[in-house]
Amino acid sequence: MTAGGYAATVMQRCDVLGACSEEAGRLTRPFASQAMHKVHEHVTTWMKAAGMAVRTDHVGNLLGRYEGGNGGTSTLILGSHLDSVRDAGKYDGPLGVMVAIAAVQRLHDSGSRLPFAIEVVGFAAEEGLRYGIPYLGSRALAGVFDEVDLERTDAQGVTMADAIRAFGGDPGRLAEDRWNGGHLLGYVEVHIEQGPVLEARDLPVGVVSAINGQSRYRLIFTGEAAHAGTTPMDRRKDALAAAAEFVVAVEAEARKTDGLVATVGQLVVNPGVTNVVPGEVVLSLDVRHAEDKVRLERSDLLLLRAGDIAGRRGVSLQSETIAGTPSVPCSPRLAGLLTQAVEGSGYQAITLGSGAGHDAAVMAGITDMAMLFVRCKGGISHNPAESVTEQDVTVALDALGKFMELLPARR
Ligand code: HGY
Ligand code: MN
Ligand code: MN
Repeated sequence: MTAGGYAATVMQRCDVLGACSEEAGRLTRPFASQAMHKVHEHVTTWMKAAGMAVRTDHVGNLLGRYEGGNGGTSTLILGSHLDSVRDAGKYDGPLGVMVAIAAVQRLHDSGSRLPFAIEVVGFAAEEGLRYGIPYLGSRALAGVFDEVDLERTDAQGVTMADAIRAFGGDPGRLAEDRWNGGHLLGYVEVHIEQGPVLEARDLPVGVVSAINGQSRYRLIFTGEAAHAGTTPMDRRKDALAAAAEFVVAVEAEARKTDGLVATVGQLVVNPGVTNVVPGEVVLSLDVRHAEDKVRLERSDLLLLRAGDIAGRRGVSLQSETIAGTPSVPCSPRLAGLLTQAVEGSGYQAITLGSGAGHDAAVMAGITDMAMLFVRCKGGISHNPAESVTEQDVTVALDALGKFMELLPARR
């Protein structure tokens, strides 16, 4: 089959997984959900058809292994995540897993083996939709899972530990998920760009230089619920008015700081009733920048700004750091091989940074990592309008195959 044939299968499979959702009418696939069980059933079948031995670890990663030839004992890990945000596109995550499986399928179909094993991983939870904590699957594989997080509860009050149990894992054995398969040659993730650069440059793929660091916070503005009809404006402690002033301040600070992005994506108003002055607002803050020093400085400044706004309005503020990951450079060695592979496929290979976080940032803790971006229409992502073309997927698949041929069996 040609690379195009395998790419067509990748696209079809992303359609199939795109229908595995917890919500009718839109794609929402949280960590350890029923929808994730359905995805595991499909992906297990596809991994086995590609000649892989398949297992699920305790945190809920799905791993397929294709042994190497001539006694190769090292392993190259490929993959991406299988969970999604709410009302997601169908390529963010699954595209990388499907391309990885297709790359192994090509080897299997030609009866060939590389001088190293290939492990394809479908990570359990990169997005953090259910528990707010990103990278649960890669943290477990990299041996950096924080067991304190097991006690976090989701919107229904289910602890992460219980969710893992219900999914079939044992939260007490997550340490066993840590990679113990011997020498790693690296981790490579194919992922949609989720940005406008490749489309602007009219290129199908690009090589990632680094993954920006990110900080996630939870803030609670607590004022005083009051009657909307009888409470004079100068006697209010309106938590939503304070939060709204903060949201505008976040945008203003990000606009004036080069390379900084800051987002309030979640905001819950309590009691959330038409005729009650809001007594409490719980909101999220997501801050990113290529330089950790700038990200942390701006984050601190925004949290201070929130305190000033709250104080001026007679409202109290609580803030909690939910997660923080540093900026991570990609391996120049692997990125160089990816560049060679892209050029070998007949395309200019540009390098570009990633504003989005990826499991690769965590995998860098245990091995060299690299990423290959695939152009996506309008740079749109975290949106059902997310789309890629079969032609660009063909280029990505071809480049990944060339990369694997270029990769020395052992460093
Ligand atoms: O939020 C991110 O950057 C990624 O999509 N989880
Ligand atoms: Mn995402
Ligand atoms: Mn992603």
